[in-house]
Amino acid sequence: MTNSVTVSAASNIALVKYWGKRDTAANDPATASLSIGLEDLRTTTTIGFSDAGDDQVISPMNEASTARLIRFLDRVRETWNIDRNFSIETSNNFPTGSGLASSASGFAALALGINQLLGLELSGMELSRLARRGSGSAARSVYGGFVEVIPSDDAWANRILPADEWPLSVIVAITSEASKQTGSTEAMQISADTSPFYKQWLATHQHDMTTAKAAIEARDFAALAAVSEHNCLKMHATIMTGQPSVLYWLPATVAVMHQVLALREAGIPAFFTIDAGSQVKVICQAGDADRVNQSISAVDGVIRTLVTRVGGEPLISVA
Ligand code: DP6
Repeated sequence: MTNSVTVSAASNIALVKYWGKRDTAANDPATASLSIGLEDLRTTTTIGFSDAGDDQVISPMNEASTARLIRFLDRVRETWNIDRNFSIETSNNFPTGSGLASSASGFAALALGINQLLGLELSGMELSRLARRGSGSAARSVYGGFVEVIPSDDAWANRILPADEWPLSVIVAITSEASKQTGSTEAMQISADTSPFYKQWLATHQHDMTTAKAAIEARDFAALAAVSEHNCLKMHATIMTGQPSVLYWLPATVAVMHQVLALREAGIPAFFTIDAGSQVKVICQAGDADRVNQSISAVDGVIRTLVTRVGGEPLISVA
C-alpha cells in the first residue's frame, strides 16, 4: 500500500486568460484559456493519510486558502467514498498568493497526489477536472508545455504542444513580495457582476483563442505576442472597470511593460503578460533570455527576476 506521495507541480501562466465562471459552485470557467507551464516555479506537496481525527495541513497558505483546501478534500472523500483524513505538507519555491499562480500548482499537485495515493488511475481529462474544482487555472498545471482549457459544463484541459517543440523563455519580474489584496476568485466575480466590459470580454474570447492556437501551430512569435498582450490588457481593463475597481498594477508593473515595448523597438522580440497581481511575466525566445533578463532587471521597482522556460511536467514519487 502507498504510504505517502510527493508531487512537484509547476505553476502556469495564461496567454489567453480565464476570467469569469459559468458555474461558481462547480468552479466551471466561462471561457477557454491557453497557458504555458513554468518549469522552475513549483509547488511540492506530500500527501498521506492521517489518524489524527481531522486533516493535518502544513502550508504557507492563509486561513481562507486552507479552508478551500479542506473543502476540496471533503469533495474527494464524498466522490470516492473515502472515510479517512489526510496529512498534507506543501511548499512553494516562489511567493505565495501574489499573482504567480500558486493555486494552480497547488491544486494540480493535490489532484495528482490524491490520484496516486488512492490508486484512482484517472485520465488526464479527469485529473484536470479534479484540479479545476480547486482552482480553474489548476486544470492546466496537471500537464507541462502549452495547454488549453476546453470550456463545457465540466471543463477540462488538454496539452496542445510539448514544451520542447517551441523553446521559449520566461522572465518573471517580481515587483512585490506581498500577498494581493483581492484574490482572483473575488475579483472575477466583481468583473462579471459590474464591469461594462465583461460581456465584450466573453464575446471576443474565442477569437483570441483561435488566433493564439494558430500562432503556436505556426511557431509565429510576433502573432502570439500580439494576441497575448491584447488579451492581457483586455482582462485588466475589465478588472479595473468593475465596481469596486481592482487595480493590480504597481508603478513597476507599468515600467516593465514599457521596457518590453522598448526591447521590441530595439529589435528584440518579447512580450508581457500579467495575471491577478503586480508581477509581470516577459516571454522571449530562448536565445534572447539573458539580454531580456538584464534589461528587465534594471527597471526601477523590480525587486528581482526569476528566469525560467516553458516546461512544467509534473514529477511524482511514491514512498
Ligand atoms: C488571472 O484559477 O486563481 O490567473 O478558479 O477562482 O481559483 P479560481 O481562479 P484562478 O484564476 C486565474 C486567473 C488568472 C488567469 C488565468 O490563469 O487564466
